[in-house]
Amino acid sequence: MSILTLGIESSCDETSAAVVADGRVVLSDVIASSLEFHKLYGGVVPEIASRKHLEVIDSVIDRALKEADVTAGDIDIVGVTRGPGLIGALLVGVAAAKTLAYAWDKPLVPVHHLEGHISANFLEAPELEPPFVCLVVSGGHSHIVRVEDYGKFRILGRTRDDAAGEAFDKIARALGLGYPGGPEIDRQAKNGDPHAIKFPETRFPDSFDFSFSGIKTAVLNYLNNTKAKGGEIVIPDVCASFQQAVVDVLSGNLIAAARSLGERKVVLAGGVAANSALKAAVNAKASKAGMKVYYPRPLLCTDNGAMIASAAHYAWLGGRESGADMNAVANWDLEEL
Ligand code: KG4
Ligand code: ZN
Repeated sequence: MSILTLGIESSCDETSAAVVADGRVVLSDVIASSLEFHKLYGGVVPEIASRKHLEVIDSVIDRALKEADVTAGDIDIVGVTRGPGLIGALLVGVAAAKTLAYAWDKPLVPVHHLEGHISANFLEAPELEPPFVCLVVSGGHSHIVRVEDYGKFRILGRTRDDAAGEAFDKIARALGLGYPGGPEIDRQAKNGDPHAIKFPETRFPDSFDFSFSGIKTAVLNYLNNTKAKGGEIVIPDVCASFQQAVVDVLSGNLIAAARSLGERKVVLAGGVAANSALKAAVNAKASKAGMKVYYPRPLLCTDNGAMIASAAHYAWLGGRESGADMNAVANWDLEEL
């Protein structure tokens, strides 16, 4: 008999619910996004996100059960993103999960959002097991993490300022490419020359940390100076050169961190893991270093309930369970788990 987990995610602008069997097999993954309501403002508006979550969460959960062809009685575990994220958005998912766990008399398992992103890889690669080194790059976070075991993480490096996805989004906004910027920069860069413009790459000695504020300023200065001189801004070249510089640092630090620990498996997770240049750079460097690479398909890279269900399954096997007094947290360190 399979163990079935209902996973609920509402930390940002996606309301999602999914049913996953044994932490590995996706039976359904329903995602409702309020993205179109935020586009006008160039980023996610927390109040709008919370309201949209409230409007759709019940029907998203119903659809997840229906599409998985299961009923409430078949669910063994209720997993939910407890944090980090927008507090008003998180609260909607947490309240729904608490209610269902209580009504169905099933364990309630709180999940860390980044633990969820990392777990998307368990859905993609049935053979993947910890330990491994993972680059988690999303709109709000950029970490290099050693996944010691299911639900057990050690942070090897982190951003000292912007997250990688945030840098993509800010540059896209400056170029007038809309929100979210990552996918559009990725697309534009395919027609550009990654060596056209030299942007700075920030590295720290004896550290796997990141910093993206320098490159962000450099790109903005380049755009302003070129405009002031009446020069032509070739958007695909700016995108390709910016992306190349970011990807060089992300992939370089990931491989260096894995090498320092003698790790043979490197894993990508989070929205930016959908980036084609990042996957290419990591594949190239890992094959030279004799390492195997894993990453989820693009739909599992961005926020979804299935990754939360997978994480909840393994967390529950490890003994994690909350009472009805569990609350959402806007800030939550992965190492506190
Ligand atoms: O993980 P995610 O869905 O949400 C957070 O937890 O933040 O990540 C969203 C981020 C956005 O910043 C978006 O621009 C970025 O992931 N992203 C990409 C790509 N697809 C999404 N960045 C670069 N290249 C992509 N193809
Ligand atoms: Zn996310």
